[in-house]
Amino acid sequence: MIKAIKGVKDLLPEETPRWRLIEETARRWALRYGFQEIRVPIFETTTLFARSIGATTDIVEKEMYTFPDRDGSSLTLRPEGTAGAVRAFIEHNRAADPRPQKFCYLGPMFRHERPQAGRLRQFHQFGVESFGMSDPRADVEVLSLLWRMLYDLSLPGLTLELNNLGYAEDRARYKPTLVTYLKGVEAQLCSNCRRRIDANPLRVLDCKVPECRTATDGAPRLADALSPEARAHFDRVTSGLQALGIPFHLNHRLVRGLDYYCLTAFEVTCSHLGAQNAVGAGGRYDGLVEQLGGPVVPAVGFAVGLERIALMLPEESAIGATPRVYVAAFGTAAAAVGFTLLDELRRTGVPADMDFRAASLKAHLRQADRLRSLYAVILGDDEVAQGRVTIRNMQTKAQEEITLSEVSSTLQTRLLTP
Ligand code: HAM
Repeated sequence: MIKAIKGVKDLLPEETPRWRLIEETARRWALRYGFQEIRVPIFETTTLFARSIGATTDIVEKEMYTFPDRDGSSLTLRPEGTAGAVRAFIEHNRAADPRPQKFCYLGPMFRHERPQAGRLRQFHQFGVESFGMSDPRADVEVLSLLWRMLYDLSLPGLTLELNNLGYAEDRARYKPTLVTYLKGVEAQLCSNCRRRIDANPLRVLDCKVPECRTATDGAPRLADALSPEARAHFDRVTSGLQALGIPFHLNHRLVRGLDYYCLTAFEVTCSHLGAQNAVGAGGRYDGLVEQLGGPVVPAVGFAVGLERIALMLPEESAIGATPRVYVAAFGTAAAAVGFTLLDELRRTGVPADMDFRAASLKAHLRQADRLRSLYAVILGDDEVAQGRVTIRNMQTKAQEEITLSEVSSTLQTRLLTP
């Protein structure tokens, strides 16, 4: 038997209503904030990701699905959405259009991680990218969108964590001090972090291994090395959040696994998610457009993981099956009329169904129950001859007779008018 590959998941009909709710909520909120949807390819040239996410990050070093194209060029399944959005922004010369430009996207991403609950190899992100504004209110805007959207979904136990990563020069000034400190505690660090000391020392602060956390407790802090401009930007972000009543915690260890960030970096975690507790994350990336060959364009954005939201979504928020009408037509003449009626109901917007295998009224009503239909329209040959049908309320079992020509308008009124 051929099975799905490890770390990818089928979404069966029981789960898709929850997913639709998440997707619709995310899109609705993003549109409300002026973000417009874009759709970019699932695979891109490998260099795009290596250059943007960073050659020494876990994603680029260990997790990308990279393969040679038939002409030998190297392609990669996108591990995240920001790089592709920036590539499209540059390629379509959007910087020449009036700014700001605010995009949102939704789709599958691919990372070769060790699969567990909430961590997959094909997962889905909803993300937003706001191009063209260096004003700290642009950071607050995406943060408030993220917070309000997750709040609207009634996710439990959310915490917004925030850090100031400063400008590249601030980090360059800080790194030697940090490296000296890390070399002093090297023996206590995990093998991954020992390797990172030279390649990507800031990431050591973000390591979740308890020994590494203890060893880095006394490390010098980036906050103490920040320029006045970086501090001023961050202060305006935090005061902006306070003004909107959005709660947050400062976390000086938050570094993020992607190298393009500067200034504001953030994560929303959920206490109910165990080890994979980040529901969404993002930050400012003012240098990335230029780094990928475009003009200097400041930008800020985030992405949320849809699998993680789906795991936390309260049970009752799933929208059940849509209200349905079941057409129970039995007998030769009635079956033909019933099939036309089914088409008429659907054309007029009434969700309707019929099992073409059922031949008796009993078999039809059993199916109507199984589909949790609200109404069954019952018609046999005798009813059809008189131009009449019976409408049965499947919950109360009450029945009424109406003319065939009234069926769709009656059901439209009952099901489609608020
Ligand atoms: P990220 O933190 O790598 O950021 O991913 C964002 C979110 O995607 C995570 O918080 C998590 O919910 C979800 N996620 C990541 N990996 C997996 C996985 N293996 N399985 C399930 N869910 C996962 C980014 O991707 C940035 N592009 C965000 C961004 C947009 N920054 C600026 N703009």
